[in-house]
Amino acid sequence: MRDQPPQPAEIHALAQRMGNREFTARLQLEQQMRDRCGAGQGRGAFRLEHLWDMYGCIRLCLKVSRFWNRAHRNYFDIQVVRNEVVLDRLPAAFDGFTILQLTDLHADLHPDFPAAVQRVIAPLSYDCMALTGDFRTCTFGDHSGATRASIEILKDVTAPRFATLGNHDSLEKVPILEAAGLQFLLNENSVFRRGGDALYLAGIDDPNFYKSHNFERALAGVPEAACKVLLSHSPQTYREASRRGFDFLMAGHTHGGQICLPGGRVLVHDHSSPRRLLSGVWREGQMQGYTSRGTGASRLPVRLNCPPEVTLHVLRCAKRV
Ligand SMILES: [Fe+2]
Repeated sequence: MRDQPPQPAEIHALAQRMGNREFTARLQLEQQMRDRCGAGQGRGAFRLEHLWDMYGCIRLCLKVSRFWNRAHRNYFDIQVVRNEVVLDRLPAAFDGFTILQLTDLHADLHPDFPAAVQRVIAPLSYDCMALTGDFRTCTFGDHSGATRASIEILKDVTAPRFATLGNHDSLEKVPILEAAGLQFLLNENSVFRRGGDALYLAGIDDPNFYKSHNFERALAGVPEAACKVLLSHSPQTYREASRRGFDFLMAGHTHGGQICLPGGRVLVHDHSSPRRLLSGVWREGQMQGYTSRGTGASRLPVRLNCPPEVTLHVLRCAKRV
C-alpha cells in the first residue's frame, strides 16, 4: 500500500471521471459526514446511528440467547454461490465469461476477515472481479484500516479488478486502491474484446446515500445494441438500469438482511429497494439482476440465517444454451 495519502489534486482529478455535479455533491456530503461525525446517513427512523443503537440491542439479544457464538462463526462461513446468467445479447465468444462479485466487505470489521476471504477466493477461476462497494465499516472517519484490509484480500488476485463506491466509502480511497491495481468505475465503463465482439462493464457511483450516480456518463461510448453489465452498489437503480438497456445488474448493499429469521426472512431493511430485490436472482423487464447477501457484515461480525457470499456470475450466450 502506498504510504502517502492522496493529494487534493488527485481527488479533484476524479471530477473529470465521475462528472462535476456528481463529484461536488459527493464531496460536500462526505464533508458533512465528517463534520457531523457520521450522525446522519438515512432518513427518518432508518438512520445509521439508530441502527447502531439497534445493533447494540441485537448484540445483547444474541449474547443473552446464546446465539452469539453461532452467529459469529457464520460471519466467517463465506459461501461460494454460482449464478448462471443466460443473456440474449451475449456474443458467443463470451459464453462462459465469469465475473466474481465481492461486495460489502466492510473489511476493517474484524482482523481475521481478510484471511477468511482469501482462503475462499484463492481456488476460484474467473475472468474478472467486481467489487460493488462498502469497503469500510463506518460511514465516516479514517478509511486506512479498510483500505489496507481490502488490499490484503486482493493481493494475490491476478484477474482484472473493477469496483464501485458504496455509501460507506469515501473518494479518498480511490487513488490508493487504484495504485494497488483496482479500477474504479465512477460513472464509467470498460470493455472486454474477443475477436470482433465486445462485452461492456459499466459502474455507477453510490445511488443510495450520495446519489452521485450518472447513467449517461456510465454509458458513454457504449453502443445501444451491445451486451452490457452494470455494477451498482444498491439494486435500487433497477428501473432506470432496465430502461437504459442493461442486460444484467449486480448489486449488494442489502446484506440480504444479515440477521434473519429461519428461512431467511429479513427483519430490517432500508426500503430503498423492494423486498424481491433484497437477495438473490430477480428480473426487471428484459434485464436480469442479482443482489448479493454481501461478503462481510455491517456493524457486528455476525450473521444469522443469511450466510455471507462471494458470487461467481457465469454469463451464458442464449444461442448456445
Ligand atoms: Fe454494506
